[in-house]
Amino acid sequence: MTVPTFPPGFLWGASASAFQTEGAADTDGKGPSGWDAFAARGRIKDGADTTRGTGFHERYREDVTLLAGLGADAFRFSVSWPRVVPGGRGPVNAAGLDFYDRLVDELCAHGITPAPTLYHWDTPLPLDEAGGWLNRDTAYRFAEYAGIVAERLADRVPMWITINEPAEVTMLGYALGEHAPGRTLLFDALPAAHHQLLAHGLGVRALRAAGAANIGIAVSHTPVWTAGESEEDRLGAGLYDTLTNWMFADPVLTGRYPDEGVAALMPGPVEDDLRTISAPLDWYGVNYYSPTLVGAPRAADALDSFSGFTMPAELPFGIREIEGYEKTDFGWPVVPDGLRETLVQLRDRYGDRLPPLYITENGCAVDEAVADTRRIAFLEGHLGALREAIDEGVDVRGYFTWSLTDNIEWTEGAGKRFGLVHIDYETLRRTPKESYAWYRDVIRSQKANGSAD
Ligand code: BGC
Repeated sequence: MTVPTFPPGFLWGASASAFQTEGAADTDGKGPSGWDAFAARGRIKDGADTTRGTGFHERYREDVTLLAGLGADAFRFSVSWPRVVPGGRGPVNAAGLDFYDRLVDELCAHGITPAPTLYHWDTPLPLDEAGGWLNRDTAYRFAEYAGIVAERLADRVPMWITINEPAEVTMLGYALGEHAPGRTLLFDALPAAHHQLLAHGLGVRALRAAGAANIGIAVSHTPVWTAGESEEDRLGAGLYDTLTNWMFADPVLTGRYPDEGVAALMPGPVEDDLRTISAPLDWYGVNYYSPTLVGAPRAADALDSFSGFTMPAELPFGIREIEGYEKTDFGWPVVPDGLRETLVQLRDRYGDRLPPLYITENGCAVDEAVADTRRIAFLEGHLGALREAIDEGVDVRGYFTWSLTDNIEWTEGAGKRFGLVHIDYETLRRTPKESYAWYRDVIRSQKANGSAD
């Protein structure tokens, strides 16, 4: 085992989300989400049956048993907003809430900390139809829903996540139209960022009012590497860095937008909102997958594919392929040191204002059914880089790998496999991969070395 020892009490976990796993799309009174509608419009590449997912809604006990076999300390799952409040406002679906109650009880019975995310992209369809995150009202509806979930679960849930990756929702869902709700607004998508941030801040308030504690957010971070030496390259990379990293982290951690130009494009009483958005957090979650190489736009960049889609030519930056590294099945370069780079960057940028960190997602898509040696190498590399960041003084308290099982990779459907556990999408049979045994042994040896309780 070549994974270094982590500090005492370090939390070992795995992550998942509702739309990607639950299935049961209209079971027990669940309402449709924007993603259900997007899928029904044929926007999932391989036609995967997202109404079935991995069958988690029915088989959650099996997955909790798998987590227990792993020796995981915690499970990060998400609560489906339209399962709990089908209309996005108004009546609560008791059966929906009961499901999460059972799941939390099951986790607790196995000594696993439940760490729910309240929004992992599945907006109730009626809210999407009323503008989704372009509509300020959605933020208030989110806070209401967050309070409802906390009222029910805060007695047993010791760790909460408001929102997952507001940057991806803004960019892919509202700017580029690659994710639900499929809007192609480019820079006019920015209000969607502000309203998610506001929802986060209002959500923190509602959670605390309902007795919840230990609250964080899961934000994607990518070190932005500048392609080329020209002023245009520098400007392009700088803008991309602002839009994907700091436009989300700065408001949450400092109560300001990273630049005046961005702040000026945001709707509503921005200064007041920023006070709400920067409500003190107990911890901050980092989702890390890879760095991004960005430069000036070039005619060729318009056709460059990033995560399987093309960046429109009219954007003032271009994403280039990072060469010289192994690639995952998504084409993302495997750069473990990028995780260290991101964490050190966060510490240097925010200093004392940075709360303790958790890695809320990190993993890779590799299509190796059971002998997934590429995943093991990926995880081993990233855990090494994480330990280096801790050695450099970054306060990281835990690691959640993405993902426990294979799952529906959004528009990629069942075609990209991120799991420690293989899913046969015909039978929904679960088969632990070699990475599962590897991660179990890592956790075991960490505990034997006294890193965890
Ligand atoms: C998301 C996950 C997704 C993963 C891999 C993150 O952007 O939070 O839902 O499956 O990355 O693409």
